[in-house]
Amino acid sequence: MDIIELQEKIREEKEKNGTLILAHTYQSPEIIDIADVTGDSYALAKAATKYQNKRVLLCGVRFMAETVKILSPEKEVVLPEPEATCPMAEQISPERVRKFKIENPDFSVVAYINTTAALKAECDVCVTSSSAIKIVSAMESKNILFIPDKNLGSFVKEKLPEKNIVLWDGYCPVHNQITADDVKKAKSEYPDALLAVHPECPKEVLPFADYIGATSGIIDFALNSDKPVIIGTEGGVYDSLILKHKDKKFYQLAKQKLICEDMKKTDIQKVYNALVGKGGENIQLDETLRLKAKVSLDNMLKYGG
Ligand code: 13P
Ligand code: SF4
Repeated sequence: MDIIELQEKIREEKEKNGTLILAHTYQSPEIIDIADVTGDSYALAKAATKYQNKRVLLCGVRFMAETVKILSPEKEVVLPEPEATCPMAEQISPERVRKFKIENPDFSVVAYINTTAALKAECDVCVTSSSAIKIVSAMESKNILFIPDKNLGSFVKEKLPEKNIVLWDGYCPVHNQITADDVKKAKSEYPDALLAVHPECPKEVLPFADYIGATSGIIDFALNSDKPVIIGTEGGVYDSLILKHKDKKFYQLAKQKLICEDMKKTDIQKVYNALVGKGGENIQLDETLRLKAKVSLDNMLKYGG
């Protein structure tokens, strides 16, 4: 079957078996096209609690599917490509966090949602890139350990100087490759364009940006801009923008670098296979771990609005 035929089959099948398809904005345009909900990781987590469907197909990476399962254990949550993981989510061990907590009992632990369920279980609250500032500023505790992303953490730290934020050494291997030279090059190539970047980019890159935010925020900024916009996040966002908004001008920052191989592991054939029960992984979590991890996600939804 070609892509169009597969998309038609997927639309028919998901109606028949009542499956909700969630897709992260980094997925390919043909997957975005058949999804019921597309968004950044915060939007996908919220959708998990809002829809009544008994079965969810999560097109993205493992921590996103785990998040849906943690919040909605009664649902069957399927990750179409079991190998699709976020390397950052696994950079820090839960033992290391436990040790820090014992040595620093006056600290609260904030975890970026790009973490394993086991790490979420060790923290007080989760945040996403779109909700981090709002949530951390609303926290009572002044002393905060922010895991794992040093780049998002330093962005939050700069915005909230009243907090004592300790950063760790995690990072997104995709966004962390962006340099100030990449930005200068793009700006000189497209002098009339504005620049929007994800806060997972290194600290040295952010001062060049006209907008810093999560993937949904970057899309809104790009669509509402009168000027062309250089897209400083994973290429899937740019691919969908140029396909759907031919009247507007977008450019991709550092095209060769901003490709998340894990996000690209899911293709439309795998989505179809998972939908008809011939592939994918049905996410299972230990119940004690799930309940512990749920506390931090519930807090995220409570404070994140
Ligand atoms: P968002 O919160 O913007 O969806 O980011 C998730 C992610 O994996 C970015 O690399
Ligand atoms: Fe993880 Fe980075 Fe890929 Fe996002 S882009 S899923 S943070 S590796």
